[in-house]
Amino acid sequence: MKAIVQDTYGSAAVLETRDVDKPEIGDDEVLVRVRAAGVNPGDWAIMSGLPYIARPVYGLGKPKNAVRGTDVAGTVEAVGPGVRRLQPGEEVFGWCRGLGGAFAEYASVSEDALAPKPANLSFEQAAAVPMAGFVALQALRDHGGVRAGQKVLINGASGGIGTFAVQIAKALGAEVTGVCSTRNVDLVLSIGADHVLDYTREDFTQNDQRYDFILDNVANHSLSDLRRALTPTGTLVPNGGGFDNHWFAGGGRVIHAHVLSRFVSQSLRPFVVSPRFEDLLVLKELVEAGKLTPVIDRTYPLSEASQAIGHVGEGHARGKVVIRHNGPRPLREEVRR
Ligand SMILES: NC(=O)c1ccc[n+]([C@@H]2O[C@H](COP(=O)([O-])OP(=O)(O)OC[C@H]3O[C@@H](n4cnc5c(N)ncnc54)[C@H](OP(=O)(O)O)[C@@H]3O)[C@@H](O)[C@H]2O)c1
Repeated sequence: MKAIVQDTYGSAAVLETRDVDKPEIGDDEVLVRVRAAGVNPGDWAIMSGLPYIARPVYGLGKPKNAVRGTDVAGTVEAVGPGVRRLQPGEEVFGWCRGLGGAFAEYASVSEDALAPKPANLSFEQAAAVPMAGFVALQALRDHGGVRAGQKVLINGASGGIGTFAVQIAKALGAEVTGVCSTRNVDLVLSIGADHVLDYTREDFTQNDQRYDFILDNVANHSLSDLRRALTPTGTLVPNGGGFDNHWFAGGGRVIHAHVLSRFVSQSLRPFVVSPRFEDLLVLKELVEAGKLTPVIDRTYPLSEASQAIGHVGEGHARGKVVIRHNGPRPLREEVRR
């Protein structure tokens, strides 16, 4: 099968389209014929091997899993003997464990990391949901405890996580302000934000407005500036951060937030996303109820996966970037040739 693989860390140029063996499936695993795969900043980070401190997890000299891609949507091709819920032919979406495997024609995925594809989504839309949806949901619901009537601000509202966060915050009943650039104002309004601040014209940390909850996907303001925009008992989730510091990325900011949180009345809650089957079902329900619609920036064919990751790595995606493909030719066509 064709897969996007890397033998070394580096820029998108290290990614190659190659023929590799189809993955084997274990007892509780499902072989998914991949129809679409979502691209996340995490795929760019693993490709690059950044931050260096994460390399024991990724793989020391090269990634332990050579195939990139986590978020997946496709059809069940085969199931392991312990699989109870899913049958060949079913349409599913979910995430690959082991930091990769989705940028390929087939992926082996744990049964408990897959749910039936939302009926109202295409494969491309479904593949956009898992990781960004988990981060947005867990930030707002679990770490922010966001309730109806609260004032919520999403910094980076037009990105992969931001476009989910705006919609989930609205579904929780919050009054939502999205921060984005001029070209994305209409997009952020269209997904339900009550107010939009254009960051090229206005700095939300320097006005008089105060928020009960801020999800910061960008890390372009200091923690003290962000705290100034919070109510005295508000909650900040500092979620974003670039990789300018190759060793630790945003690690210093995370430690600073944890320490500061002990000494101030506000709550600062950095977190690492926990992909969970139950949350995949929550996202599916929100989608099927019409409360959550993935925003797709661009789709790329599998052969252009390096361009897709490169685009996400630039940090200006409008919603999600997705890799699509129709998979290998059906067997009948192979025979006819
Ligand atoms: N906590 C976790 O476990 C976890 C998990 C996954 C990801 N993350 C992190 O979450 C962050 C966001 O991820 P993502 O997938 O949403 O990224 P993304 O899709 O690449 O989002 C980029 C967005 O940020 C916007 N942006 C850039 N500069 C901005 C500014 N100054 N003010 C406001 N918006 C700005 C861009 O809009 P313009 O083009 O208009 O500038 C773009 O829409 C990343 O740093 C990622 O590493 C955390």
